Amino acid sequence: MKYFIAGIALSAACLAGTAQAQPAGSAALKTKVDALLGRMTLEEKVGQLAQIGGVAFIPGSPNPEDAIRKGQAGSILWISKPADINRLQKVAMEETRLRIPLIFGLDVIHGFKTVFPMPLALAASWDGSLIQRVHGVAAREARAAGITWTFAPMLDIARDPRWGRMIEGAGEDPFLGAMVARAQVRGFQGDDLSSPDHILACAKHFAGYGAADGGRDYDSSYISDSELWNVYFPPFRAALDAGVSTFMSAYMDLNDVPATGNSFLLQDVLRKTWKFQGFVVSDANSIGDLVTHGFARDRSDAAFRAFTAGVDMDMASGTYNENLLTLIKAGRITEAQVDSAVRPILAAKFQLGLFEHPYVDEARSKTIIGAPEYLPLAREAAQRTAVLLRNEGGLLPLAKGSGKTIAVIGPLADSRRDMLTMWSGFDVDTSTTVTVLQGIRNKLGANARVEHAAGVQIAKQYRSMFEDLLGMKKVDPWTEAQAGQEFSKAVDLARRSDLVVLVLGEAALMSGELASQASLDLPGKQQELMEAIAATGKPVALVLINGRPLNITWASSHIPAILEAWHPGNEGGNGIADLLFGDANPGGKLPITWPRNVGQLPLYYAHNLTHQPENARGFTSRYWDQSGAPLYPFGHGLSYAKFAVSNLKVAKSPVKAGSPVEISAEIENSGSVAGTEVVQLYIHQRAGGASRPVRELKGFEKVALKAGEKKTVRFSLGKSELSYWSSASKDWVLDAESFDVWVGQDASAALHAEFSIQP
Ligand code: NOJ
Repeated sequence: MKYFIAGIALSAACLAGTAQAQPAGSAALKTKVDALLGRMTLEEKVGQLAQIGGVAFIPGSPNPEDAIRKGQAGSILWISKPADINRLQKVAMEETRLRIPLIFGLDVIHGFKTVFPMPLALAASWDGSLIQRVHGVAAREARAAGITWTFAPMLDIARDPRWGRMIEGAGEDPFLGAMVARAQVRGFQGDDLSSPDHILACAKHFAGYGAADGGRDYDSSYISDSELWNVYFPPFRAALDAGVSTFMSAYMDLNDVPATGNSFLLQDVLRKTWKFQGFVVSDANSIGDLVTHGFARDRSDAAFRAFTAGVDMDMASGTYNENLLTLIKAGRITEAQVDSAVRPILAAKFQLGLFEHPYVDEARSKTIIGAPEYLPLAREAAQRTAVLLRNEGGLLPLAKGSGKTIAVIGPLADSRRDMLTMWSGFDVDTSTTVTVLQGIRNKLGANARVEHAAGVQIAKQYRSMFEDLLGMKKVDPWTEAQAGQEFSKAVDLARRSDLVVLVLGEAALMSGELASQASLDLPGKQQELMEAIAATGKPVALVLINGRPLNITWASSHIPAILEAWHPGNEGGNGIADLLFGDANPGGKLPITWPRNVGQLPLYYAHNLTHQPENARGFTSRYWDQSGAPLYPFGHGLSYAKFAVSNLKVAKSPVKAGSPVEISAEIENSGSVAGTEVVQLYIHQRAGGASRPVRELKGFEKVALKAGEKKTVRFSLGKSELSYWSSASKDWVLDAESFDVWVGQDASAALHAEFSIQP
């Protein structure tokens, strides 16, 4: 019996064949890979090392069909429609000698069709199970379309919000970042890559991309070895331990050596020290860019340097197809080296079950992609990722209705596209996206008059290639007269309303790749609008839709309630309305330190002590013109419940090095509603072989408590939490020293104890 999918004949054996889970490194998998490799010509092997752009974003890119037919493609990038995927796969399966299926790769970063909150927002949930479920749905939808590889998780630690790609990661902290890395990898890959629900994950960008000078995307990073091992590497190591199949190199220079030609990163750390068994892909065109960097002499030298540094697959630069054979013939690269690069790529194809099931079932894909059953999770995610920054006088939650007029004001209040952001699909479909205005209307129905005015417009000053690629229209700016009228309309609306929900922040592609920002001020005239609305004297709840912390210092003392909602995805408006009106209780916590203004950057809580620490000897700020403290600390986030942490206990001190330190504390909800709180544990090592940060997160637990409920939370600090990489000894060390420990609700927790470690 044959099945037809878009004109492609599939044999029954092909559809019914069982692709068993193939654990990485298993003998059976190795046998299959070696058998196939033994039948391949050198040309066929080199062809497997090329990923070809399905969308020609790099001038001169080959036509993908031609490349596949010539055996010069192991993978295709940026094709997302099932019919296109089948069409190209058919060429590989029917017109190439060995019929080796292609891997289709795409940036499935926070959902495929069902768009979830942006990754930094997901990190703000501090909830690994939620993150895993979200990426599980993303993987299921993507796989149903024929995508078998996502370029996620993005694991770059980011401490400078000017860098637009902060949005794609988990923020500033290695411990939280490691948790998020594990959850994402598990969500995408599951236990069995051959199942119809899972895809390969890719830990990117290895490593240090988030430390770009000045927060300018792609700029050089200069990172000490101590920071690399203690801060920038841990999320990558966590992804590797969770079984991530692939890594991506990064664009920028790391300490003057481009990451894509950096054998310290890709050989010494990744292969030799961490024993990574999967394959490494370059970033898009980053091998070709080694010439642009002034690192490689020409494209052949670039291919040589990237390949020998450890990049197995070339993403879209064409340099491997152009040069590897010649380099092998010239004896500069051996066939054995090529075999080592091809092996993990073939292994991934076997693990994915692609030899048995190369095609995607287009009829099935329609039932899976964008299925309504995922919407409740998208709504739950929007609720759980929002962070309540301020709630003076308990303005929130708002009462539902009772005939009141609610003004929903701001340029982002009713903009569907801006609820989503970068990587929300190529043909971004906003038909089901719920804005804040719509979410409030859905919630209140006829119980209230809900009116809207945009007030101001916002737009980027410089467009990036992504606006064009994603078909984003240029906004026609209002004339001066129109702008004046719209502004007044909004203020008038506020005046005749009972309360205002003000929705401000950033438009969709103001953060993300190629979207760094020199100022953190609210773009356009949003600050003026906010001040004018506040001057009406009406109660105002500010909802922020944005990709990074912005300068809300004025708001933090003039606007009673501030809810950070990020770019919350398809169901964002419903999730936000649930929070505003108390059908859900905020529980998100900042995964980044929130600065007062751009001049404080970079700002992170885990900095070292100085010879004259703040708060010591009457020294209150490192600046003479403002406080050195952040506006909101890392880990901050309020709730409608009322939590207090007490009774911090260290079970035993001193303990012998290598034995765990057991710590407990109590958390109580003395409020009148149920809620969740993230109990956070920070340590500080008082002396040792190196200065250690003033505080470091080393444990947290998300606890759900009913009104009046109390629970005990337990932490165990073992070798991995108490060790650090020392640039003095160039190794991991665990010093027998004294430590401070704090447990509480954010990085400024005051509840303190101490313990010590004995040799
Ligand atoms: C460039 C980005 O840096 C990377 O993160 C992404 O995966 C590739 N483009 C492919 O889209």
